[in-house]
Amino acid sequence: MKNKIRLFVNVDHVATLREARKTVEPDPLTAALLAEKAGADGITVHLREDRRHIQDNDLSRIREKIHTVLNLEMAAVEEMVQIALKTKPYQVSLVPEKRQEITTEGGLDVVSQIVHLKKIREQIQPKGIRFSLFVGPDLRQIDACREVGAESIEINTGLYTELRDEAAVQQELEKIKNSARHAAKLGLRVFAGHGLTDENVGAIAAIPEIEELNIGHSLVSRSVYFGLEQAVKNMKQAIQKGIAQRPH
Ligand code: PXP
Repeated sequence: MKNKIRLFVNVDHVATLREARKTVEPDPLTAALLAEKAGADGITVHLREDRRHIQDNDLSRIREKIHTVLNLEMAAVEEMVQIALKTKPYQVSLVPEKRQEITTEGGLDVVSQIVHLKKIREQIQPKGIRFSLFVGPDLRQIDACREVGAESIEINTGLYTELRDEAAVQQELEKIKNSARHAAKLGLRVFAGHGLTDENVGAIAAIPEIEELNIGHSLVSRSVYFGLEQAVKNMKQAIQKGIAQRPH
């Protein structure tokens, strides 16, 4: 197991702030380039069906101008598949999407849409684009991801980051650890994300199977205080501390 985690910085909420005024700043591309300067290994954007933050034009500019790689989060719908085939990001991560939600809620229900997701994978992978599925820490869902033929899963850490009762936090962490182990045994690569901050990322980074993290909201929030480069550097340090806790 490598003692390295790739940090993908999600710049959606830079666009959220811009869209609050429907103007030109802050620009998620500028933020992406700063994040890279501070050590981000990749940039993540979620092109939502309602275009509430990232716009199509942001996607193409970011794809063209960044120096690392682009992870495109999107709903499992035909419009987004066509955009992904045109944009050719490094990786597509399918996420559930509901119009009314504030952010992604829960993971995909892969079990109930194996055939549909397989069809999308068959369009995406032959173009050389990696194919990942965002799921809760649920062994049945992970088995279904394997059946779909995904190369990787991203485990939803949202609930872990929201719980306040210590026993409940530990219980959710156990579920995430078991899920990571199970997925790795099935030959899936294991990523994680949602709600992660400098304070809660350590226990996730300490899970040996985890190779990649997607982090957005906290980094953009803290960039208001320290600037984005410093926020990314702080996060990388917190991740390193977690990695140091991995069993030898
Ligand atoms: N992973 C997925 C699949 C997401 O949808 C999001 C939010 O867009 C994130 C990670 C990042 O979550 P956060 O913004 O809370 O760091």
